[in-house]
Amino acid sequence: MVGSVLMDRMQAEGDFGLIEPLFFSTSNAGGAAPSMARNETKLQDAYDIEALKRCEIIITAQGGDYTTEVFPKLRAAGWNGHWIDAASTLRMKDDAVIILDPVNMPVIKDALAKGGRNWVGGNCTVSCMLMGVGALYKAGLVEWMSTQTYQAASGGGAQHMRELLTQYGTLNAEVKSLLDDPKSAILEIDRQIIAKQRALTPAETANFGVPLGGSLIPWIDKDLGNGQSKEEWKGMAETNKILGLGEGFGSAPIPVDGFCVRIGAMRCHSQALTFKLKKDVPTADIEAMIAADNEWVKVVPNTREATIRDLTPVATTGTLTIPVGRIRKLAMGPEYVGAFTIGDQLLWGAAEPLRRMLRILLD
Ligand code: HSE
Repeated sequence: MVGSVLMDRMQAEGDFGLIEPLFFSTSNAGGAAPSMARNETKLQDAYDIEALKRCEIIITAQGGDYTTEVFPKLRAAGWNGHWIDAASTLRMKDDAVIILDPVNMPVIKDALAKGGRNWVGGNCTVSCMLMGVGALYKAGLVEWMSTQTYQAASGGGAQHMRELLTQYGTLNAEVKSLLDDPKSAILEIDRQIIAKQRALTPAETANFGVPLGGSLIPWIDKDLGNGQSKEEWKGMAETNKILGLGEGFGSAPIPVDGFCVRIGAMRCHSQALTFKLKKDVPTADIEAMIAADNEWVKVVPNTREATIRDLTPVATTGTLTIPVGRIRKLAMGPEYVGAFTIGDQLLWGAAEPLRRMLRILLD
């Protein structure tokens, strides 16, 4: 799915016109390459190290298992090209940079100057968050941040999106006749829905493990055994690495923590953020800094009307816009600031940083 979105974006931006692409497949080697192919019109075998070695730059959104299997072999075979990857496998390695150039171009340029060759897209939630509020980090204002996420089904993959919609359909079908009758009792509808949710078969919850339609799941990714989910761990680890902060950079990391929750949205990750700033900054100044940070961020006025219109997954899906709203001082004190932000996790959260890294290498 990330690969398809990446191809669409590369086509839309004319990236293929700047390179001579070779297309690889893990399952259909020898098949016809996409229409953007020029000299090489057949799909190559993505496990063929000699074929991969022909490339100066490899972009992959194939997933962690592929990276784990192929990347070490390719480097061991002496390949010295640029590896641009969506998978998390290499993300925290010292010789890999987490790429999000509107936020960390200096970190990318520094690594390039030092001969960096491994470029990895960040966790989708982290990337979307930093595209929204990176300005506050860049200004050195953040003492700590807590994030409560509302993550879409697409973060799990295409099958998860299908499962969510199938569950919604199953639930609707269960009470359709009652819904069609305006005089039916809502508590009876509710009783039948919860009974159906609890009776969903293993096949109907194969991807999420439990019902998601009409519910939520406050755990994403592995159990680290210390009470934290791996998705929650990534919040602090990746935010700091993207910004060039923390141990590996000889500075203290900024604490980032909170809860990551799967909800029944399709492909936009949303998050409620609480900042403890190092000083009291007027709300208008915070809004202005966020708005000026990059061309995709959009400050949504903190009014009911603007919020419900512009600060939703439905408004954001399929766009590169990163809305940030609900910006206000919190009751805990003048240094405590709240905000809410949303991003399409397949665009800024996955595909876009990869194709932009290609452009940086081509410049
Ligand atoms: N871990 C994310 C999620 C996927 O499950 O939503 C994107 O990094």
